[in-house]
Amino acid sequence: MKKITIGNLQAMKGKEKIAMITAYDALFAKIFDDEVDMILVGDSLNMSFNGKSETIGIGLEEMIYHAKAVKVGCKRAYLVVDMPFGSTVTPQITLESAVKIYKETGCDAVKIEGGANMAETIKLLSQNGIAVMAHIGLKPQTSRALGGYKISGRDENSVNELINDALILQEAGAVLFLIEGTVSEAAAEVTKRLGVPTIGIGSGVSCDGQVLVWSDAFGFFDEFQPKFVKRFLNGAELIKGALKEYVNEVKTSQFPSSAYEYKK
Ligand code: KIV
Repeated sequence: MKKITIGNLQAMKGKEKIAMITAYDALFAKIFDDEVDMILVGDSLNMSFNGKSETIGIGLEEMIYHAKAVKVGCKRAYLVVDMPFGSTVTPQITLESAVKIYKETGCDAVKIEGGANMAETIKLLSQNGIAVMAHIGLKPQTSRALGGYKISGRDENSVNELINDALILQEAGAVLFLIEGTVSEAAAEVTKRLGVPTIGIGSGVSCDGQVLVWSDAFGFFDEFQPKFVKRFLNGAELIKGALKEYVNEVKTSQFPSSAYEYKK
């Protein structure tokens, strides 16, 4: 079990697809760690596990709390932690927040949402030895201001903006990219132009890797199912089935049977 480094991920570009999934606690991080290349402590935590309708609202301390737990279970995969809304408002504030995340969680990189406007910030973090994954395309932290989730790359202007953002942020020092909610051809073009790996979500098969929110992928979040989410398991149904069995055995005094009792 060898720890995956940024060098390993960069070497995979164009050769082997990178598999990434979210995790929010040690229990699931440990289950995922052997299989995936990368784990993300995403601010999707606020939706999937806090039950909120958007990612805005989760704080830096909460992200750190969950990331520390994930780190306990994540020994091999490359660990990325999201910088939440409000923690990236100026380059200096971002640096302070990122240093705190880096020091307290032991993660490998932080993820920052934004386009070319974040170049100065990403440069500052890189200069201070912090690896950054740039999150471009659809940026959920802007959804409230924009009045919804906007798919990127649907017209020429949007494609040009996406390519421009990507190249500028790579120049600033971003070592990885997450491309969300982007027309496949546009994400493919960005992936082709960049020298560093791109991880897509709702951005087609040409990205260097894919990420999914685990509770979406395994059927635990059923408020809605975005077009790009494939359910690999009906987790909630499986749990409900087992739960019914447990409740029935309690009600009928079948559990605990003598096998589960302490003897004198
Ligand atoms: O917060 C998150 O889980 C994300 C997804 C796009 C993977 O950033």
